[in-house]
Amino acid sequence: MLDLTNIGLLVTYNSKTSSLERTHDCTISIDDGIITDINGADISRNESINCNGKLVTPGFVDAHTHPVFVDGRENEFTKRLAGVSYQEIAEEGGGINSSIAAVRNATEIELYDRVIKRMDKFIKMGTTTLEAKSGYGLDTKSELKSLRVLDHLNSVHEIDIVSTFLGAHAIPPEFNGDSKGFITLLCKEMIPAVAEQGIAKFCDVFCEEGYFNVNDSRKILQTATKHNLIPRLHADEFTDSGSASLAAEIGAISADHLMKVNDQGIKDMATAGVTAILLPGTTFFLGDHSYAPARKMINGGINVALATDFNPGSCHIQSMPFIMSLACLFLDLTIDEALKAATWTGACALNVEENVGSIEVGKKADLIIWDLDTPEEIPYNVASVPIQNVIKNGKLVIRLD
Ligand code: NIG
Ligand code: FE
Repeated sequence: MLDLTNIGLLVTYNSKTSSLERTHDCTISIDDGIITDINGADISRNESINCNGKLVTPGFVDAHTHPVFVDGRENEFTKRLAGVSYQEIAEEGGGINSSIAAVRNATEIELYDRVIKRMDKFIKMGTTTLEAKSGYGLDTKSELKSLRVLDHLNSVHEIDIVSTFLGAHAIPPEFNGDSKGFITLLCKEMIPAVAEQGIAKFCDVFCEEGYFNVNDSRKILQTATKHNLIPRLHADEFTDSGSASLAAEIGAISADHLMKVNDQGIKDMATAGVTAILLPGTTFFLGDHSYAPARKMINGGINVALATDFNPGSCHIQSMPFIMSLACLFLDLTIDEALKAATWTGACALNVEENVGSIEVGKKADLIIWDLDTPEEIPYNVASVPIQNVIKNGKLVIRLD
């Protein structure tokens, strides 16, 4: 049993009224990790946290990350600063493929030790639920190892991890560009093995020029669907490949990135109810200026979620508050839209909104107590994370006071 008392302002999406709501001067009661009462009178229990009149929001749901790698790729960052593009680096043998050997050579424990540190950092920044992809092993053994690391971490770490199989992240070097051969391996061996072990909920594909085209992606995601993995995809990130329309056609739960999405793709996604997961951190980290047309998508009737896309190459950012800043500055989202996108809509994009993503009775007590008074101050404090406490499953996991 735990009570949060003296909450100055509670801001959360409310699924009953379908709106982001602000409640002043309230309390929250928690039993067994679940919210049992909001603004109730019964606050005379043993354990309580005084929020000192500060802001409380739901924990962030980061619906798109790639945390299972060994080392960062600072060398590529330096090259990019010297004017070489992300695509040119990949063509020269860097990029995703340059992270593969280390993951293949790492033992499961070595990989686990790397990834757990990243989970500690995510939760410190207020992320209480995280989607995490494999995708730096790219052979059956190393992809299963990556997903096992996530599965193990999900059971021991406070953070909730929802796993995605991203075997279709790049064509590994031993295939020498033989995409057909690698797709056969994905469909005949890797997807069935992942499904059989029950260690991933989603299957993702990097649908992009030089990686997997629309026809390849359709084939891979249809196979995944047959094996009860829910499809999602990296769509229209660097080029307009029509992959947003593919997401609609195959009934993907989300299409992510969408920097180059076309009007038909927006229409198709809206009709099919595909959530757009926007990743402004990637555009920013690549030094690019062509942010995804978020306002057009929202006006077109698409639900928009925000996520970090944390990975060693194109976006080395773990902070959802910073992503909110970018969304307000460059995607033209209001602060309320950004907060909803970083919590509730992220949860919807992972099919976990019954349990997380908002502060409502019956849901998990995943909360942030801020050292702030208003939600406007979250994106305003661009380069800092003014969090006082993070509460996950009703347990105080971060105490900064
Ligand atoms: O989402 N787009 C594909 N994958 C990552 C990049 C991964 C990497 O560079 O290691 C992304 O941007
Ligand atoms: Fe990504």
